[in-house]
Amino acid sequence: MRIENDFTELEERITAPAQSRDEAGLEQSLRPSRMADYVGQRGVTDNLEVFIKAAKLRGEALDHVLFYGPPGLGKTTLAGIIANEMGVDLRITSGPAIERPGDLASILTNLNDGDVLFIDEIHRLNRSVEEVLYAAMEDYALDIIIGKGPSARSLRIDLARFTLIGATTRAGSLSAPLRDRFGLLCKFELYNEAELARILERSAQILGIPVDAVSRKELAARSRGTPRIANRLLKRVRDFSQVEGSGEIDLAITKRALSALGIDDMGLERLDREILGTIIERFHGGPVGIDTIAASLGEEKVTIEDVYEPYLIQIGFLHRSPKGRMVSDAAYRHLGIALPAGREAEAQLNMEELS
Ligand SMILES: Nc1ncnc2c1ncn2[C@@H]1O[C@H](COP(=O)(O)OP(=O)(O)O)[C@@H](O)[C@H]1O
Ligand SMILES: [Mg+2]
Repeated sequence: MRIENDFTELEERITAPAQSRDEAGLEQSLRPSRMADYVGQRGVTDNLEVFIKAAKLRGEALDHVLFYGPPGLGKTTLAGIIANEMGVDLRITSGPAIERPGDLASILTNLNDGDVLFIDEIHRLNRSVEEVLYAAMEDYALDIIIGKGPSARSLRIDLARFTLIGATTRAGSLSAPLRDRFGLLCKFELYNEAELARILERSAQILGIPVDAVSRKELAARSRGTPRIANRLLKRVRDFSQVEGSGEIDLAITKRALSALGIDDMGLERLDREILGTIIERFHGGPVGIDTIAASLGEEKVTIEDVYEPYLIQIGFLHRSPKGRMVSDAAYRHLGIALPAGREAEAQLNMEELS
């Protein structure tokens, strides 16, 4: 029930990086299926390409891979590309969907040599399932207990040599034994403007939407480093241009649509501004703990941490310190709020200490 509620709420937010329900079809059509069409994220793909080549040369399955980073950055997409490049089947599931060890067993026993099993939100696997996964990842075997009490006995079933690709927004929530069983840990970074502009160019072409280069740049700058948001904004701007304009997307209609959607020139939406505003107005700009921020906004802590903070930190509006979150001077300026007097002195002091 709760989850359902959160989901609906997220769906209404244009910048919510989680995928909304009616969006699945669109995302599928925009997902590149080959490495050559996958833009950016070189830190991840350069390594992967080497490992894929090596595994293919040896005729072996790729080592288990963990993808971690904020939502909407292309983790699911890249898992699909890996399966394509390896020429194997892909099976997609998620941590919460695998409720009992038996569910996992039936998935694993249906895999063939080399197949890729993608487990999204792998940090949400329950303990008993996770323990079954250890032996599966390490020994390609399942240890099953049959029966109960004194007559119970253990049975070992051999599995195909599969590749597990786990994805998570929070690598820190993964247990150490699970994390250690991945041969490759890949951290996904937010995309830069040029990369997002290229993704938008490709999406516009696939969807047959005429967008000029300045508008692509504008959309890229306001997509919070996230391809999913870039594609979503493109779709929304198209709606505006079809209803209010000529159907072609230029800078005027782009700006008009973005402002109607409540997205400012840094790509921030209402909740971003509320997070910063709350820290400034109620906690003197911080430091303040994430639990306190979440409580005063009536938001889930994980949503703030996983979905909103990465971008605010990336653009230098927010800092994480051991004492809590702090808003930067740049964020005060962006919100048009004057720096408190004491703070100016403090900034001055820090500068002196540094020099
Ligand atoms: N590197 C990329 N190049 C092109 N499109 C991308 C890239 N990364 C993500 N996308 C687009 O963004 C959307 C969301 O990506 P997805 O793989 O579902 O993100 P995640 O699984 O990390 O939440 C996809 O529909 C895809 O079209
Ligand atoms: Mg995904």
